[in-house]
Amino acid sequence: MRQDTILVLDLGSTQNTVIARAIRDLGVYSEIKPHDITANEVIAVSNVKGIILNGGVNNVVDGEKIQILNELFELNIPMLSVDYQLSDNSQLAQWGNEEETKEILQKFVLEKCKCEKNWNMANFVNDQVEKVRNQVGDKKVLLALSGGVDSSVVAALLIKAIGKQLVCVHVNHGLMRKNESESVVEIFRNQLDANLVYVDASERFLTKLAGVSEPEKKRKIIGEEFIRVFDEEATKLEGIDYLAQGTIYPDIIESGTKTVKAVKSHHNVGGLPEDMQFELVEPLYQLFKDEVRACGIELGLPGDMVYRQPFPGPGLGVRCLGAITKERLEAVRESDAILREEFAIAGLDKTVWQYFTVVPEFKSVGVRNHLRTYEYPVILRAVNTVDAMSAIIEEIDWKVLLKITDRILAEVKNVNRVCYDLSPKPDATIEWE
Ligand code: XMP
Repeated sequence: MRQDTILVLDLGSTQNTVIARAIRDLGVYSEIKPHDITANEVIAVSNVKGIILNGGVNNVVDGEKIQILNELFELNIPMLSVDYQLSDNSQLAQWGNEEETKEILQKFVLEKCKCEKNWNMANFVNDQVEKVRNQVGDKKVLLALSGGVDSSVVAALLIKAIGKQLVCVHVNHGLMRKNESESVVEIFRNQLDANLVYVDASERFLTKLAGVSEPEKKRKIIGEEFIRVFDEEATKLEGIDYLAQGTIYPDIIESGTKTVKAVKSHHNVGGLPEDMQFELVEPLYQLFKDEVRACGIELGLPGDMVYRQPFPGPGLGVRCLGAITKERLEAVRESDAILREEFAIAGLDKTVWQYFTVVPEFKSVGVRNHLRTYEYPVILRAVNTVDAMSAIIEEIDWKVLLKITDRILAEVKNVNRVCYDLSPKPDATIEWE
């Protein structure tokens, strides 16, 4: 069943996403489209019940005022014009505060357009399953499954749609958190019966990284090696026609529209083999992050996989400072596991955006069992942020910090000291490298 849809035309407003989001919160599907969408393109979306012309201060491109095509008026679809004056007698409104905006939208979407509230995850999943089956037929689809939220949800959705025609490749670069790769294998291969290629490339990455201490160089090596390993695996597989990606709606919006400049370019896949011609399958491209999570739950993925904190692509590699050694990497991994466990017990996993441990390259003197030690410190970090552009330090209950400290000192090898990083961003960044 194709859900009722409200299109928000992008006329340069920075509020497009907020409006589309608010309409979805009413239970009605909404999508942002470029201002110069043609009548045929609107018809192709199918079930468009209303169009919002969302004007704004940026509605001039290359010196010309943005205009929508006149042919849209002939479609006889109700329109709501906001901050965008039309000669036509379409409804003209002005967004107010959150409540007023909601009221305007409710009136337009539910009363005027008579949309049915049929946007929900169960319908979304059914629609996408059907769509993917139609798109790929009996062909095979390849997916780089990192175990992050987006790729995991894509995997679960495609397994439901095409089962073993999906080939997942999980590259363990040796910089994953404790039990992370194991749980990808457990959930996808053992529980969901996925066709999963597991590549343990830990040694290969560690060898490449040996002696490299410059953060950007480390990042580059990890990124390039990841593509190389993925390419090699993809080349071994035969008869693959499609590549699935965990592209989500903010990726598309942030890549820039015709009126809004790109916030950052969208590069979602780790390894897209350049000489391979794949057609893309991107079943989540319509979803906002919280909707992706809800979709994962709808598909039966475990909560701790779907509600996990952000984790950088280079993994623990940027938290084992300087030149990575097995010894310190192990200390990062073990201390991170303790921190996460204790945060979960204290309920902080629900309120803190990101939390992790860092192990620097230097050592300090300590004493254990009356004997002098000379070992590494572990630095704890816990921050809250909205968009990761700036961040504040979370005030953690002293008792929780002390318990984490005790456990790290007792359980993690080669460590004799624990510190808590109090630096906000700016002047620090969230990660240490
Ligand atoms: P910073 O350290 O720049 O981090 O304040 C902001 C957010 O981005 C994450 N981060 C990365 N994510 N690849 C990623 O996928 C990276 O190279 C990378 N570096 C930082 C970081 O964890 C934080 O959430």
